[in-house]
Amino acid sequence: MNILQYQQEFLQYLESKVWIHEPKNLYEPIDYILQLGGKRIRPVLTLMAADIFSSDYKKAMPAALAVEVFHNFTLIHDDIMDDAPLRRGKVTVHEKWNINTGILSGDAMLILAYQYFENYEPIVFQKLAKLFSKTALEVCDGQQLDVDFETRNDVTIDEYINMIRLKTSVLVAAALKMGAIVAKTDEENANLIYDFGLNLGLAFQLQDDYLDTFGDPETFGKQVGGDIIENKKTFLYLKCLEVANEKDRNKLKHYYNLKLDDNSIKIEEIRRIFDLNDIPVLIKHQIEHYTQKAFNTLAKMNITKSNKEGLREFGLWLMNRTV
Ligand code: IPE
Ligand code: IPE
Ligand code: MG
Ligand code: MG
Ligand code: MG
Repeated sequence: MNILQYQQEFLQYLESKVWIHEPKNLYEPIDYILQLGGKRIRPVLTLMAADIFSSDYKKAMPAALAVEVFHNFTLIHDDIMDDAPLRRGKVTVHEKWNINTGILSGDAMLILAYQYFENYEPIVFQKLAKLFSKTALEVCDGQQLDVDFETRNDVTIDEYINMIRLKTSVLVAAALKMGAIVAKTDEENANLIYDFGLNLGLAFQLQDDYLDTFGDPETFGKQVGGDIIENKKTFLYLKCLEVANEKDRNKLKHYYNLKLDDNSIKIEEIRRIFDLNDIPVLIKHQIEHYTQKAFNTLAKMNITKSNKEGLREFGLWLMNRTV
């Protein structure tokens, strides 16, 4: 099966569930965010991994749904924390309703996510829940670091990589490992596919950072320049500090210590400095580096060539996306 087929199967399953019930103000935002679209990367990975290790991917549907519901919960809370107006081309939950609604609907989604594991027998249930709890806590750690970095001026690239590993990669990795757990494959396979996901997740978040600044506002679906507005210490910023001359460096630091009402000049200036210093090329190299690292893990795995090819294709698709 190809990526599109897994996506479609997952969507059918998602749509077969009834999301809205009383109290509507709690469940309508959940339905809203889940129906907004999105690439469905994580559930597709869960299904793919289950397919690879057991060729019964349908058994992994509840786990795939758990991962996607959890991901969408993190998006609602992340958009509150990042003061983001747009998600998947539509207004964010906290802007459409309000912050309190975003908080509680998000909380409910986290609990719903856990409930889908009840579809599995005790041993699988325990393994899934254990991995999930560890992962969810790591995502919180990453999100806190991301926010802490906004007001720090001494963040290193190593610290940044650790932060994105926590806020993003561990969930991509766990999505794959959950497929492996449902398929009851051995520990070694499960750990290798987790490692593959970790590196793919790093490439994925680097690409997300690139698109946040250089994406096409018509198609990106999020506010372009949002990370600049929020003074996010992304790879773009940190690498630029490393390679730029003193004048550009000072300008960057100056802008990243400001919180402005009108950000159009700030965004334009920062983008110009990034461009001048070849940052788009440097981040592309970094994305390729982590994608290649993921592919190296693939090579070590004891799975068929065509399965490796499927995962490889997925990695290449991620690397070249514009959304
Ligand atoms: C957005 O994730 C949050 C990040 C970790 C970068 P996605 O880019 O997977 O968002 P959707 O689900 O496709 O909208
Ligand atoms: C989000 O990182 C990571 C999580 C949601 C846990 P970002 O803040 O970069 O994600 P986007 O760009 O808003 O989707
Ligand atoms: Mg965000
Ligand atoms: Mg964020
Ligand atoms: Mg982002």
